[in-house]
Amino acid sequence: MDYQKLSTYVDSHKSNFLNELGEILKIQSISADPSEKDEVHQCAEKIADMMRAASVENVRLFETEGNPLVYGDYIHAPGAPTVLVYGHYDVQPVDPLNEWETPPFEPTVRGEDLYARGSTDDKGQLFIHIKAFETYRKLFGDPPVNLKFIFEGEEEIGSVHLDPFIRSHKDLLKADTVLISDTAMYGRDLPSVCYGLRGMAYLELTVENSSFDLHSGSFGGAVENPAHVLADIVSKLHDKYGRVAIPHFYDDVLAVPEEERREISRLPYSDEEFLRQSSAVAPYGEFGYTTNERLWIRPTLDVNGIYGGFTGEGAKTIIPSRAAAKISMRLVPNQRSAEILDLFDAYIKQIAPPTVRVLVRKMHSGEPALIPIDHPSIKATTEALETVFGKKPFYIREGGSIPEVLTFQEALGAPVVLLGFGLPDENSHAPNEHLYLKHFFDGIKTVAVLYDKLVGK
Ligand code: BES
Ligand code: ZN
Repeated sequence: MDYQKLSTYVDSHKSNFLNELGEILKIQSISADPSEKDEVHQCAEKIADMMRAASVENVRLFETEGNPLVYGDYIHAPGAPTVLVYGHYDVQPVDPLNEWETPPFEPTVRGEDLYARGSTDDKGQLFIHIKAFETYRKLFGDPPVNLKFIFEGEEEIGSVHLDPFIRSHKDLLKADTVLISDTAMYGRDLPSVCYGLRGMAYLELTVENSSFDLHSGSFGGAVENPAHVLADIVSKLHDKYGRVAIPHFYDDVLAVPEEERREISRLPYSDEEFLRQSSAVAPYGEFGYTTNERLWIRPTLDVNGIYGGFTGEGAKTIIPSRAAAKISMRLVPNQRSAEILDLFDAYIKQIAPPTVRVLVRKMHSGEPALIPIDHPSIKATTEALETVFGKKPFYIREGGSIPEVLTFQEALGAPVVLLGFGLPDENSHAPNEHLYLKHFFDGIKTVAVLYDKLVGK
């Protein structure tokens, strides 16, 4: 392909691409909020329209019991490999709203970044694929690979309906490579290929006692306080080395080869940069592991929120009737979310006192994934990144989760390429989420170049 032609075209269409992306970023497709169901649907329809406008064929919405899936394909390269592109158009909730400098659903360019909920995770990255396809076809004719697209609206709540859909639509989705842009690069202009993701097991832990709040003068000291029990349980979830204290939690953790740990330790890393990105006070974590190892190869347990009793203005004297915590565990190969949730449940039953009721409600989950980096598609991706960024990519793992990666691997038997264009400090899931514009445009170029590189691999 004439790379210069591609690059010039993308550079001269920057404002068109941004305006179009703005149209999907304006739609409040928050999957966690059932009252946004119509908006989520509208977003799916808008994406389908954009795919049709880009000449993607057989574009249709598959309705599910949850949010719709958007499918489309372009199969005009007989005998050539098929690439299945996956992305998600749902976004995380926006609270705390008052911390946004500009409203989350009013996309705004400030400096070198585009600010909006979903800009990096994942509408901006999903849109890269629509524009890459459109651009390739306009400039060079039919791509040399066959393309299929599947976009979902429930990734942020665990891909509950995509999972069975993949398993029951193996022919429709059949592909030689699955291509996903929903991760981050290691840093600015540091192209990266991601070969590992952690899994996730999410639950809500509730400690209940009385059926209503009690006067703490009349009852305090004579009944168990659920908030105290909850705090006590939470304090027993880790040991003094920062390890998760649930018995058998680490039983299935696959040992990471020394060579891989050495590779990880060779990546550029500084505490200063990590603290700048996170705004945290100090690095902290499991004893005996570096920050990247804690994030990528070790499982964790975190309280995401803890609540109960009186938290309003002033003082109120009660024994709360209940207290609860939302808890997530990030998992690594070969831990399995169902087993880990059972282990959590068993441990809580063992440590909870008989003076209260303790309930564990399992929420969404996803399995960890590892990608063999010696696959030809990874080589093609490496070459595409080198063409556009002018340097060799890093091979990295990520601490986040994309529940469907393992399902794609298992159900389609296809290798997954995690070609992310985000950055670790783009505030995904937080106020002021943004996307570094250079990576957005370079992403479009990289994906278009990749079509060529995948042929004959
Ligand atoms: N884009 C992220 C996954 C991600 C995060 C990859 C950080 C690399 C680094 C994705 O949209 C996400 O947030 N997934 C959820 C999945 C969960 C709800 C099952 C996550 O990781 O919390
Ligand atoms: Zn995402």
